Amino acid sequence: MDFMSVLNKRCSIRKFQDKPVDGALVKEVIRLGTLAPTACNRQGWRFIIVTDKDIMARVRKCGGSKIIPTAPIGVVVLYNKFTINLHYEDNIESASACIENMLLAATNIGLGACWIGNLPKINVMRRLFNVPKRYDIIAYIAFGYPEFQSDSVPRKYSNIDELISYNMFSMEKEIEIRKISKLQLSLIFVISKFHISVPGFIRKKIKDIMAVDHK
Ligand SMILES: Cc1cc2nc3c(=O)[nH]c(=O)nc-3n(C[C@H](O)[C@H](O)[C@H](O)COP(=O)(O)O)c2cc1C
Repeated sequence: MDFMSVLNKRCSIRKFQDKPVDGALVKEVIRLGTLAPTACNRQGWRFIIVTDKDIMARVRKCGGSKIIPTAPIGVVVLYNKFTINLHYEDNIESASACIENMLLAATNIGLGACWIGNLPKINVMRRLFNVPKRYDIIAYIAFGYPEFQSDSVPRKYSNIDELISYNMFSMEKEIEIRKISKLQLSLIFVISKFHISVPGFIRKKIKDIMAVDHK
């Protein structure tokens, strides 16, 4: 596929065929991921390939997205925490560049993928995957063959000029992204900051508000 087609075609896949994915393909996707830019060329990314359905089920049980156990294979992306640029969290930026490369590579070879940030609390994830403290857990990427061919999700602002200002941020162009009341916002902050366990229906409400997990 030519590069522009890959960019236009990539979209999050959340329904997978019950067909195994060759581990070598996933390794190649990871290799292409590691061609991404990386702050100070630290290349602090690490990957855990998840093939064990019991582990996937445990991640789901501990609060991870329902997509996780439905995908034949997953990759937990980690990045070394060490950075001298805390203001911009360049370790997270580097890992994210790597993930985007992986998603594009997957699209190119006909693999579906979904970047999943809806995961159990960080300490639970650490325990489940035996991750040492010096690594950040960035995301779980679910991979599999798409159940059906999806089109990329239309962007909210089809006119790119709405998003661009020149030389300085233009307040006139400020667009409201989503209306969240102050109360909702403080609730979400408190819950996530203190890792408070909340009943399922409240979690669902929060997800609806934030629209992080779809379908
Ligand atoms: C940091 C991050 C976290 C995400 N977490 C989830 C998730 O937990 N569940 C999910 O279904 N999609 C998740 N996504 C995928 C987004 O929902 C998706 O990219 C967005 O809706 C745009 O759709 P597209 O990827 O098909 O273009 C995540 C994406 C990013 C970048």
